[in-house]
Amino acid sequence: MTDAIRVDGLTKSYGPVHAVDGISFTVDQGAVFAFLGPNGAGKTTTVEILEGLRRRTGGSVEVLGLDPWSDGRALHEKVGVIPQDFRFLDKITPREAVVYYGRLFDRPVDPPALLARVELAEKADAHYDTLSGGQKQKLGLALALVNDPKVCFLDEPTTGLDPKARRAIWEVVRSLKADGRTVFLTTHYLEEAQLLADQVAIIHQGKIIAEGTAAEIIRRYGRPQRLVVDAPPELADRLRATLRLPVQVAGGTVEVEYRTKDDLQKVLAAVQGSGVPWSGFSTRSDTLEDVFISLVGRMDEGVLHPPGAS
Ligand SMILES: Nc1ncnc2c1ncn2[C@@H]1O[C@H](COP(=O)(O)OP(=O)(O)OP(=O)(O)O)[C@@H](O)[C@H]1O
Ligand SMILES: [Mg+2]
Repeated sequence: MTDAIRVDGLTKSYGPVHAVDGISFTVDQGAVFAFLGPNGAGKTTTVEILEGLRRRTGGSVEVLGLDPWSDGRALHEKVGVIPQDFRFLDKITPREAVVYYGRLFDRPVDPPALLARVELAEKADAHYDTLSGGQKQKLGLALALVNDPKVCFLDEPTTGLDPKARRAIWEVVRSLKADGRTVFLTTHYLEEAQLLADQVAIIHQGKIIAEGTAAEIIRRYGRPQRLVVDAPPELADRLRATLRLPVQVAGGTVEVEYRTKDDLQKVLAAVQGSGVPWSGFSTRSDTLEDVFISLVGRMDEGVLHPPGAS
């Protein structure tokens, strides 16, 4: 598989601030790549360097084989962009905006079809300043698609959207992927990244602290699966006496970590054999959000250091 995006040793400083501090990664063509990190981690800086909007301090980057800074013109024909906090002219309508972008890129456009694709058809003729926040985001997405892009950069495309509107954007992202396009997505909604992304990287203070598929990151950094039993704390004492597995009491439940099906069966048998009354149980696995919170928290506390740091 060829790389749509290659980043090697990228740095960006704003005076004394090392916003991006030597990051490297590649994004496969046709993949959805989620770039995650807390506020100020360096996501938008990286995205805008890849879009050719900001100049890097060091390292090399390639998008579709082009250097975004020196080959910006050629690149802009092939990429679609929604900037973080997308804004547009107050008195322009979505229909006009789509037509305008079509002329800019010298591309034929079908405004009703494009606006329907992002669920904005009913606002085709409303002034931009009368659109809701989510509708403005949807217009941004429509404009990013005008030039039939091979790579789409979506910087927080779903921030502030209601749950239904977010799902509409997810569908667009899935359809972009189905078309074979590459999507570079930043988001603070971790479940969105877990659902949509083929590849994930987590950036913290300008350094990548984890990368892989969501499942790989969860496996590597998450806690094992737990059986959560609704039962009084004495169950924990009984289980500790009979099992060699970690047992915790948490808010009216007793949690037992397990790694294999065998272990799970043993836990269930021990719960049943304990004689302690229990009212129900469920299993729980870490989500990408659980792992993100724990990783970023440990980095902030200085307990964990970026891979490769001494
Ligand atoms: N133009 C600029 N001049 C000076 N510092 C900047 C500039 N742009 C960004 N920074 C700083 O660089 C760091 C990274 O900012 P960036 O916008 O890339 O973060 P982000 O990961 O996109 O955050 P968010 O999740 O809040 O959007 C921050 O410390 C920010 O204050
Ligand atoms: Mg940002």
